[in-house]
Amino acid sequence: MKTRVTELLGTKYPIIQGGMMWVGRAELASAVSNAGGFGVLTALTQPTPEALDIEIKRCRAMTDMPFGVNLTILPSISPPPYETYLDVVLDSGVKILETAGNSPKEFIAKAKSRGVKIVHKCTAVRHALSAERSGVDAISIDGFECAGHPGEDGIGGFILFGLAAKKLRIPVIASGGIGDGRTMAAAFALGAEGINLGTRFCAVKESPIHDNVKQALVKATERDTNLIFRTLRNTARVLKSKVSEEVVATELRPGGCEFKDVQHLVSGQKGRVALETGDVDAGLIWAGQVVGLIDDVPTCAELIERIVAECRERLAIASAFLG
Ligand SMILES: Cc1cc2nc3c(=O)[nH]c(=O)nc-3n(C[C@H](O)[C@H](O)[C@H](O)COP(=O)(O)O)c2cc1C
Repeated sequence: MKTRVTELLGTKYPIIQGGMMWVGRAELASAVSNAGGFGVLTALTQPTPEALDIEIKRCRAMTDMPFGVNLTILPSISPPPYETYLDVVLDSGVKILETAGNSPKEFIAKAKSRGVKIVHKCTAVRHALSAERSGVDAISIDGFECAGHPGEDGIGGFILFGLAAKKLRIPVIASGGIGDGRTMAAAFALGAEGINLGTRFCAVKESPIHDNVKQALVKATERDTNLIFRTLRNTARVLKSKVSEEVVATELRPGGCEFKDVQHLVSGQKGRVALETGDVDAGLIWAGQVVGLIDDVPTCAELIERIVAECRERLAIASAFLG
């Protein structure tokens, strides 16, 4: 498979494992890269920039193939030292930075001057166009099906992927709702040149989370996610659980709710506990509607080869319709 995305990333397949808080560690990123995809470490999973430096070295010891680092820039009362994390990435020799959240404008010139390419992930075509104008090298665009923050517009991948591919000159990577060869084939048919998977890469052998969580993802159907923080205009898609049901119920109560009313339920640290102890009700677990397509826990290599084979098969079947 050869697209502008495989050329940009230097991979065999245009399949990316998106940045994932607490999940995007060296075990997973290296396994994805070793399997011909593009693994991504999540910078802020590491408590300090120094720890990220060590994690990058650990990942490099586990794979000779290219991998990247995700830096998610979100508004925060006490923001992490984003620029120092960025400097660690730039000094590390990693060639691809995945940015998400706020516009990476101020980081672009710095990254470019060091020869690092930027894949910016966003949820709206207008933001993608603005990032293109700012000089990013590719766009990952997340449809409303996705895990994590799908934005406030509520636009599904079917509309977003094709529209982005039509309007942008840089390559488009389809993200959200992709977990098998059928969805990959659909993304290609819409004009994407790569795919970005989050939830599907949580349920693989090498993902560093508790097996109970992987089994919960296998068991879940496409109806088993909740949208939280919708009323606070900071929408996030998470796995249906006692905690996420409580957040939704609090938001829907008469008079609405403020962040402080749900704060005790939603901390990132609680989410980490859920992922690491396997107690799925201990905190929020981010997951997308693609859970409906997950019914096993393969290795990264098994998953990627299966997706690629099925994608080829679906595209051949679809082409045959043309006679
Ligand atoms: C457990 C989990 C944690 C995530 N954390 C982040 C994150 O820290 N930064 C980010 O940009 N995206 C994050 N995402 C979103 C993914 O990178 C990706 O965009 C999304 O999962 C794609 O949708 P999918 O789950 O349907 O494949 C996370 C996703 C999951 C499942």
